[in-house]
Amino acid sequence: MVQLQSPITDRLRGKVCIITGSGGSIGRAAAERFASEGAQVVGCDVSASAAEATLKAVRSSGGTMVSLSGRDLRDPTACDALVELSMETFNRIDVVFNVAASAHFDWLEHLSHSDFMATLDGEVKIVFNLTKAAWPALGRCGGSIINMASVSGWIGYEALPGLAHSAGKGAVLAMTRHLAMEGRHHGIRVNSISPGLIETGATQALMNDPAFKMTMLRKIMLGRAGRPNEVAAVAAFLASEDSSFVTAADIRIDGGTTAW
Ligand SMILES: NC(=O)c1ccc[n+]([C@@H]2O[C@H](COP(=O)([O-])OP(=O)(O)OC[C@H]3O[C@@H](n4cnc5c(N)ncnc54)[C@H](O)[C@@H]3O)[C@@H](O)[C@H]2O)c1
Repeated sequence: MVQLQSPITDRLRGKVCIITGSGGSIGRAAAERFASEGAQVVGCDVSASAAEATLKAVRSSGGTMVSLSGRDLRDPTACDALVELSMETFNRIDVVFNVAASAHFDWLEHLSHSDFMATLDGEVKIVFNLTKAAWPALGRCGGSIINMASVSGWIGYEALPGLAHSAGKGAVLAMTRHLAMEGRHHGIRVNSISPGLIETGATQALMNDPAFKMTMLRKIMLGRAGRPNEVAAVAAFLASEDSSFVTAADIRIDGGTTAW
């Protein structure tokens, strides 16, 4: 008789995984999920209190984690510091999960030039900075990069003034394909995930608007928003050897949003 596996594996045991935005909703869910599968987690969040709260949560469940608190990853020196923390503590980097991002939302008529460019910094430059800083260490381990894209990189949501955000996440999708091509020479796999609407701290206020909520939910085949742990589960697959033949891929975690 076939034994059913425990739902949580230890497939990330021995892997050192950097997770940015670890104080946010999806970042925290990922830190908890990766640690529960055996990873040694290196977190980072510009919000020191949020980063510390995740650190505490992971450690109190028996997970292994260190964290760089209060550093802004749009600054390349912060990315260098994060890589240094990982190397000094664990002497390797197997996975980089680029979760952290910040964006300005407005319709074209109201979106300023500076907010547009700030969104590209907060969504694209941040991924470039850390990828560049971690690349040599990832190459030594045959690592995996997971970039957080978005359904907004694929389609326009009629209820979301997401012009700058779409540009940023579209760039992340394109960068992912290109990095996968460059990474093949170094044994580095590079993939992205594109969540649809996920209930997080960042979407809470929008979801309190009944008109926004109704329009968004109508677009989701499964009729509900996703949860942070449902995003973390897919990321854990991409971090693990279960995805050893997957590179340059994007996995949509959108309850069917983009399929109709
Ligand atoms: N929530 C959704 O519906 C949804 C959908 C698609 C994609 N995403 C993406 O998922 C990721 C996480 O989103 P979330 O909803 O959990 O948001 P969140 O705001 O809860 O988490 C983002 C975290 O990143 C941190 N951060 C932002 N800029 C940073 C910087 N420059 N340096 C260091 N830390 C920084 C923030 O402090 C925050 O804790 C983002 O990339 C977002 O674009 C979210």
